[in-house]
Amino acid sequence: MTFEFQDILGLETMSAAEIGFILDQAGEFLPILSRPIKKAPALRGRWVCLLFYEASTRTRVSFEMAAKILSADAANVAAATSSVTKGESLRDTLLTLQAMGADLIVMRHGSSGAPQYAAQVLDIPVINAGDGAHEHPTQGLLDLFTLRREKGHIAGLTVAIVGDILHSRVARSNLWGLTKLGATVRLVGPATLLPPPFEMDGVERFTRLEPALDGADVVYTLRIQKERQDSGLLPSFREYSRLYGINLARLKLCAPDVTVMHPGPMNRGLEIAAEVADSDYSVITDQVTNGVAVRMALTYLLLGGTSAAPKESADIGALQAATR
Ligand code: NCD
Repeated sequence: MTFEFQDILGLETMSAAEIGFILDQAGEFLPILSRPIKKAPALRGRWVCLLFYEASTRTRVSFEMAAKILSADAANVAAATSSVTKGESLRDTLLTLQAMGADLIVMRHGSSGAPQYAAQVLDIPVINAGDGAHEHPTQGLLDLFTLRREKGHIAGLTVAIVGDILHSRVARSNLWGLTKLGATVRLVGPATLLPPPFEMDGVERFTRLEPALDGADVVYTLRIQKERQDSGLLPSFREYSRLYGINLARLKLCAPDVTVMHPGPMNRGLEIAAEVADSDYSVITDQVTNGVAVRMALTYLLLGGTSAAPKESADIGALQAATR
């Protein structure tokens, strides 16, 4: 089965079949990343505009690499050094980039819903690279891709998402993605950093770490969002680390083959101990590598003009021939 994608705005509105289709496409692209010549001609002549209103290392660079590996051009617009500082509106900025010939906008913004607005304003596709505390769908997809490769399946896994859930767009996208694919999600953190109680199948809420880790197959550690803390939500970072920091002793509560994930950037010694981040339980660097493949898949699906199964597509045929 194939799917057409207009924009990639969030996992809440995506079906399990659509997610699976994207992950399969990413699986086709992953081997290119370990070749000596990381170049494929699939998107020659197209250009991708990266419009970032918030700081980013992994997401921005991996989108840029994804575009370039597929032979598209990538232009970076960092709001801090653009005409946004002269007061240009989001709408005018978007229309300017489209008028220059951008074929795709990848956008990160501090306000929830900004990429949805961009998708309404523009005729070209938009990918949400993180909007406020709302969604980070490409991170969610790369996490699902990483887990599927690591565990072989997602259905039936118990995933403990630990930390600053309230401010985390990564947690929200993972929550949607994991539950759609049949995992059980445990949200755990201080009561002030948990979303209000809500009813959702396959989701449990904990304020104590130990029961949340009990038998967990996956521990997903979130960054404490220092820049989004309203005063008073956390007594102190040291207190947080003492109660919720993931260290090797605490991993013993989990399943013996537990997998530890983190979206980056890590605060080592705060939400995650260095001994865990650098251990064999951790797939944190795999997440980063897989992020390039997932972003190649998304860029390709939005710009390739075809959602045909990759092996049947002429573009991919050429790609494979050229990169063999
Ligand atoms: C995340 C983000 O910016 O939402 N980082 C990322 O994209 N890998 C997580 C974070 O900043 O905590």
